[in-house]
Amino acid sequence: VPHLLGIKYLNEADIELIFKTADQFKEVINRPIKKVPSLRDITVANLFFENSTRTKLSFELAEKRLSADVINFSAAASSVKKGETLIDTVNNILSMKVDMVVMRHPNPGAGIFLSKHINASIINAGDGAHEHPTQALLDSFSIRERLGEVRGKNVVIVGDILHSRVALSNIYALKLQGANVKVCGPKSLLPKHIDSLGVEVELNLDKALAWCDVANMLRVQHERMDVSYFPSTREYAQQFGVTKKRLDQLDKEIVIMHPGPINRGVELTSDVADSHHAIILDQVQNGVAVRMAVLYLLASKIERNEN
Ligand code: CP
Repeated sequence: VPHLLGIKYLNEADIELIFKTADQFKEVINRPIKKVPSLRDITVANLFFENSTRTKLSFELAEKRLSADVINFSAAASSVKKGETLIDTVNNILSMKVDMVVMRHPNPGAGIFLSKHINASIINAGDGAHEHPTQALLDSFSIRERLGEVRGKNVVIVGDILHSRVALSNIYALKLQGANVKVCGPKSLLPKHIDSLGVEVELNLDKALAWCDVANMLRVQHERMDVSYFPSTREYAQQFGVTKKRLDQLDKEIVIMHPGPINRGVELTSDVADSHHAIILDQVQNGVAVRMAVLYLLASKIERNEN
């Protein structure tokens, strides 16, 4: 059964195919009639064991634009609260003749685990601090749209790298496409194994901004921190927050990205988040076309669930 569990399992040609397919879907969803029949008779379950705004809504919209039948499951309002296991939950949903599962889960590797126990196509919509493959795809798609290509571009990923599935998936995706990648953030929010990922560390934000074409600003994930960390939010904003003053000091224009949700005044000030430098809402818009492409390409390889 074909899955999208992480960028780690893709190659450059896979990404190129996803982007070419997304280009076509982007054209479709800009038309007055936005719907195509590609996934008619396919049923998709969106299983969210963790909160989401962008990913959940854009998967649902992508599925509906492709004419799939869609069911939505939110763990907080389900029998998971009565102690039902992940495998039991998913097998019960699949017995209703569901073909594909989009899943967000707080545990790293939840999708990989599930793929070994169920007979349906799984798309990882974020698994703990591990991977968020469709986010990385829409991020690279948005860089390609703004700058023409990803190859050769200098991209710095700034902030809470330690807790970020967006960082890991972006590092894999950007390197596959030939971008130069650095990470920048407080030492306490960098993973110990960062060297093994083949990216350089730059601890000084102003130097990182002077080097880069694109700065992808990550959210400080307080909910994944079980101890107080250094620096404090105020120190973090001073050292690692992008402000208009910092951008004005550069002798060039750079592109500012953020996966959302933004902590305004921490990772970015509002005058940066809402400026022409930022492609944050383009990222969200591209998320629909990229997710349509992923769903379409996976669905073209699956057999209908005849259980
Ligand atoms: N970028 C992202 O994953 O946002 P949500 O958590 O709102 O889905």
